[in-house]
Amino acid sequence: MHGLVQKYNVPGPRYTSYPTVPYWDLHNFSGAQWKESVVKSFEESNADEGISIYIHLPFCEQMCTFCGCHKRITKRHEVEWPYIKSVLKEWKLYCDLFPSRPIIKELHLGGGTPTFFSAENLKRLIDGLFQTATRARNYEFSFEGHPNNTTREHLETLYKLGFRRVSYGVQDYSQNIQKAINRVQPYKNVAYVTNLSREIGYTSVGHDLIFGLPHQHLGDVERTIVFTKRLKPDRIAFYSYAHVPWIKGSGQRGFDEVDLPSPGEKRRLYEKGKEFLAEAGYVEIGMDHFALKSDSLYKSLLSGKLHRNFMGYTASKTHLMIGLGVSSIGDSWYGFAQNVKGVEEYEHLVSNGIIPIFRGHILTDEDEVIRRHILNLMCRFRTSWKNKEERFELLDQVLERLGEMESDGLIEIHSDSLRVKEEGRPFIRNICMAFDLHLHRKAPETQLFSMTI
Ligand SMILES: C[S@@+](CC[C@H](N)C(=O)[O-])C[C@H]1O[C@@H](n2cnc3c(N)ncnc32)[C@H](O)[C@@H]1O
Ligand code: SF4
Repeated sequence: MHGLVQKYNVPGPRYTSYPTVPYWDLHNFSGAQWKESVVKSFEESNADEGISIYIHLPFCEQMCTFCGCHKRITKRHEVEWPYIKSVLKEWKLYCDLFPSRPIIKELHLGGGTPTFFSAENLKRLIDGLFQTATRARNYEFSFEGHPNNTTREHLETLYKLGFRRVSYGVQDYSQNIQKAINRVQPYKNVAYVTNLSREIGYTSVGHDLIFGLPHQHLGDVERTIVFTKRLKPDRIAFYSYAHVPWIKGSGQRGFDEVDLPSPGEKRRLYEKGKEFLAEAGYVEIGMDHFALKSDSLYKSLLSGKLHRNFMGYTASKTHLMIGLGVSSIGDSWYGFAQNVKGVEEYEHLVSNGIIPIFRGHILTDEDEVIRRHILNLMCRFRTSWKNKEERFELLDQVLERLGEMESDGLIEIHSDSLRVKEEGRPFIRNICMAFDLHLHRKAPETQLFSMTI
């Protein structure tokens, strides 16, 4: 395994979209095309499956020095209400495009820290959203909570508004690591919010853990999982630490690179974590994710409904996902578009009636086929090209690129299909990269992606 880790540890995308953001064709994209693709997707899907909404709530009180998310650090809570008003204005701009009342199937509040906002302001946000929308019958609402600032009021208010799923950022329980990443967060805080969520009635509580953090050793992962087992979250995201110090505002400066585990050590942290999680009854779902068999993510894996988009893995697919708030990415199935990242610029654009996107991509026919394979691989660890719509001109080249991974025992290639073996799962990003025609046509000139291992 060690040799394989060395061989395949290269910068690579996490494939929350295909094409990946750095390969979007910005020259052949316009706001008008984006709106057209949104309306088309809305008309095709609203009544049957509903639409998804992702809302980015970017503020955090304190900078965690490992964090790669888009956030703004502030202790000034006066920013909350103007921001929510802008998100509602942005929503209104989309509602003006829709030919009928939207039906919301999935709603996710991400960040930043959604629980930076008061419960009262979050209620105003959700109530505002539903002034012009209806809930789908089987709607699923979720949010990301910070264990240090999620209150009973947050949990009760969001529960009453229909939220049943919450995920908490845990990362690692060791004190020296928490200090290095500037996120001191005792077990008792996580236990409090986890137990309280269950008591209030949340049916899926998730914990985010990370392997590959500065100073992290096998004993730390083991201890973190022992504590995690006590609380038995329904879902666990076990993320590979993404070291991306070149991203503006990432704040990954609080430790030295020599404090990070080597790629081989990092892989061992993952293997150990995976072993402990399996012993505790968790099943691996796609990349980085684990769930108990009672959780909807596991059920969707069995029924083949598991999907992946900018929100990560989801239990079902809607063709249209609208991203609201700074830096959010929308996905109309025919195209993607990303909002501007600055809070002031965002608020200025929406108050002038402009959908605040600054870049995007409209998928070509070839992109659509490749996306299908990448989604199959990321969600099901297999793909096939039995049908016409699954075949593409450069398939032979892709299979040639995969030859070495087949000889290394990571995948099995058949005449019209491919299966990722258990040994190949850690290398899923590399396997998807073989299909990524944009990446092969133009190799990046600078490092754009985190390392695959
Ligand atoms: C937006 S944060 C969660 C909500 C809240 N802000 C918190 O920190 O608790 C989402 C999750 O992304 C993960 N994350 C952030 N930066 C990461 C990085 N550089 N590498 C891997 N995972 C990261 C963390 O596990 C984090 O809990
Ligand atoms: S991990 Fe969460 S709380 Fe920490 S800076 Fe990132 S988004 Fe904010």
